[in-house]
Amino acid sequence: MIAIMDQNLPRKLLLGLTGGIAAYKVAELVRLLRQSNIELQVVMTEAACRFITPVTLQALSGNTVHTDLWDPRVANNMAHIELSRDCDGIVIAPASADFMAKVANGLADDLLSTLCLARECPLLIAPAMNRQMWDNPATQRNVKTLTNDGVTLLGPATGDQACGEVGMGRMREAEEIFAGILSYFAPKILAGKNVLITAGPTFEAIDPVRGISNRSSGKMGYAIARATLDAGASVTLVSGPSSLAAPLGATLIPVVSAAEMHRAVMGNITGKDIFISVAAVADYTVKQPSRSKIKKSSAALNIELTPTVDIVGQVAQMPDAPFCVGFAAESDNLHEYAEAKRRRKKLPLLAANLVQSAIGGDDNELILFDDDGVHPLNRQPKEALARRLVEHIANLLARRLTTRARTTKKSNKAKT
Ligand code: C5P
Repeated sequence: MIAIMDQNLPRKLLLGLTGGIAAYKVAELVRLLRQSNIELQVVMTEAACRFITPVTLQALSGNTVHTDLWDPRVANNMAHIELSRDCDGIVIAPASADFMAKVANGLADDLLSTLCLARECPLLIAPAMNRQMWDNPATQRNVKTLTNDGVTLLGPATGDQACGEVGMGRMREAEEIFAGILSYFAPKILAGKNVLITAGPTFEAIDPVRGISNRSSGKMGYAIARATLDAGASVTLVSGPSSLAAPLGATLIPVVSAAEMHRAVMGNITGKDIFISVAAVADYTVKQPSRSKIKKSSAALNIELTPTVDIVGQVAQMPDAPFCVGFAAESDNLHEYAEAKRRRKKLPLLAANLVQSAIGGDDNELILFDDDGVHPLNRQPKEALARRLVEHIANLLARRLTTRARTTKKSNKAKT
């Protein structure tokens, strides 16, 4: 994976660990944050050190781990102030019930709680505790106080707990906490916008076991859904078959065939400001799929195919069409085919990539085509590319809305 400096990511975070079995998940969180070039200052409570060692976190974060309020190595013996001063935020994971109670009540009797009280930056907390501790009215009171004080809670999640019980209170997975951190720091450039996104492949049945599909993992579309949510939009994701989990916060509409995707899009397009058509929709479907499995024989088999509806093309033709973004995967003549496709489908923006570099992998490179010309986006992780694309969409949309407002003002003036 290629790491690229991203100005929307936090530059440095203070990561605090308190005592909880979920501490082992933090090793993965540290890896994800470091992979995104986010510098980390790890601070652990005494109880946290019983679950995972400072040596492990020192090795993973690449920085000295602090545990002691009285550490003489920190400037002026002021560890409780100095350690968070150059950080963009403090993230506590796992956050025990006891630690949350301390922060909610302004207690400061160890390095981490003192850092939280003396902070000048945002505080994000990933709770981790037994379900009864979570449900306890005292914890719920503390949750309310923390939220009122502007603290952001990342979780908890529900499910199996280390104690053998099942319920609310387990710490979110590392990937979810990582996504929550990125989401918190992302600029809300699409706040209030409603967005419909298609992703993944479609599957056109030949018989009950066979079918025609396109190679698409759904990674790019799901990353765009995540970036759009992080930018403050409401997101509906119409997805063909994919093994990926839908981004937290998106409304998922699972579909299989191109016809189902078409129905789901047309049924949900009203009121949408933006339509991003990332799905690799089958261009042809089977005219008459067999109800029973077709028996193998040595004779040639002919299957009649009929064209599917061009979903993005149809949406773009609507009288009050949302801002439509198309995708194109080409094996050659990328520029020529992509721009021709954009004009044919009447799309204000089209993102094109070479099939050789795009399918299945974690990285990609995109070329954006719009009325201003061509904008190449370098090879980078699909998540980072998605953020660049969302920025581009937000800029074009803002410009379109300003132009429309000016035109309306002018025509109103002409009428009076
Ligand atoms: O024409 P082509 O399939 O290459 O166009 C790709 C773009 O059109 C993608 O944005 C894809 O999601 C969209 N598309 C569609 N409906 C189809 C075929 C493609 O919306 N039936």
